[in-house]
Formats: sequence, structure tokens, C-alpha cells
Amino acid sequence: MLRQSLALLILLTAACTDPDGDDGSTSEATAADESGGGVDVPTGQAALSPWLMAENYAGWAAESAVHAATGTSPHGMVRTFFDDVLVASFEAGNTEHTVGSASVKELYDAGGTRVGWAVMVKTAAGTDASNWYWYLESNGSASTDANGAGLCEGCHAPGVDRVLTPYPLQ
Ligand code: HEC
Repeated sequence: MLRQSLALLILLTAACTDPDGDDGSTSEATAADESGGGVDVPTGQAALSPWLMAENYAGWAAESAVHAATGTSPHGMVRTFFDDVLVASFEAGNTEHTVGSASVKELYDAGGTRVGWAVMVKTAAGTDASNWYWYLESNGSASTDANGAGLCEGCHAPGVDRVLTPYPLQ
């Protein structure tokens, strides 16, 4: 029994110290994850809505308070969050954001109750509109859930790779 456990332990240890083996692609994926190059935010309502509900973005860089949306924004009262990848991308001075960059914007009604979220996630490299995923959920229903959504793209195109909120967040 003890010998079996020891053998298992050795096996597990070996597996942990050499997770990639000879597979170059796995090790590249690991490197990308460590540098923040992966897409961690779920895309698609089925996965994203519960992810937002659970406030998985709560630890991200955030605006200090809820405020009225600026300019021509249709978003009402808002509070914007940037994930680590987007923060690092701004820090690097990128005009084309790193894949995995994401922003969540909480939407509030006039009474200060949160009513939904607007989300954008960079899902592929390049400057094409289709490389950003867009999501809008308000009062429990999603009205936008797609890459390259024209409605969002129309206003966001002039931003820094479509991000309109200035960095650093206020
Ligand atoms: C009429 C113009 C307009 C449209 C349409 C629009 N936005 Fe925005 N959006 C803005 C502005 C302006 C900001 C800057 C912050 C603010 O004041 O709301 C913004 C900010 C955001 C942010 C925070 C990150 C950033 O770029 O600043 C997200 C996320 C976002 N919008 C998502 C969406 C989604 C999803 C859609 C489509 C369903 C959409 N927006 C459509 C104007 C627009």
C-alpha cells in the first residue's frame, strides 16, 4: 500500500515537473498564458452572463466610482473595468491591443441599481473589427452577443483599438 502510494507520488511529481513534454505547441500556450496572452474572459451569453453575475471581474483595475457616461455614450450611469492584459497593453503603449484584452462596463439606472453590463474582449490579433467580441446585457436580456457587432463598432472605431475610456482609469 505504502509502496503503491509512493509510486503514484513519484509519477505525479514527474508529471508536474515536465508538463509540456516534447510538445512545442503546449509550451507556447503556457508561455502565452503566463504573459497574459490567452483569452480568459468567456465569450457567448451562456458562459459570459453567469461569469458577470458572479462578478469575476471584481479584482480588475476599475474606475473609482459610478459616473454618468461621457460624450455620445448610450450607456447611462457606468463604471468601467480593465483586465490585466488590457492594462499591460496600455502600459506598453500599444495601439493594437493584446489578445485577451477585455473591458467590462457595469451599467446602472438613475437610482444606482446595477442593471447590466457592456463587455468587449479582444479575441484575435489584428485591427479588423471581427477581432473584438461585444456583449450587452440589460435587465437580464442580451441584445448584443457577437464579434464585430456593427452597433458597438460604429462608436468604438475611433478609440485606441476601439477602447474609448482613457488610460489610466479615473
Ligand atoms: C453611441 C456611441 C456608443 C455605442 C453605440 C456603444 N458605445 Fe460603448 N462606449 C461609448 C463611449 C463614449 C464610451 C466611453 C465611456 C463612457 O462614457 O461610457 C464607451 C465605453 C464602453 C466600454 C468600456 C471600454 C471603453 O471602450 O471605453 C465598453 C465595454 C463598451 N463601451 C461596450 C459597448 C458595447 C458592447 C456596445 C454595443 C452593444 C457599445 N459599447 C456601443 C460609446 C458607445
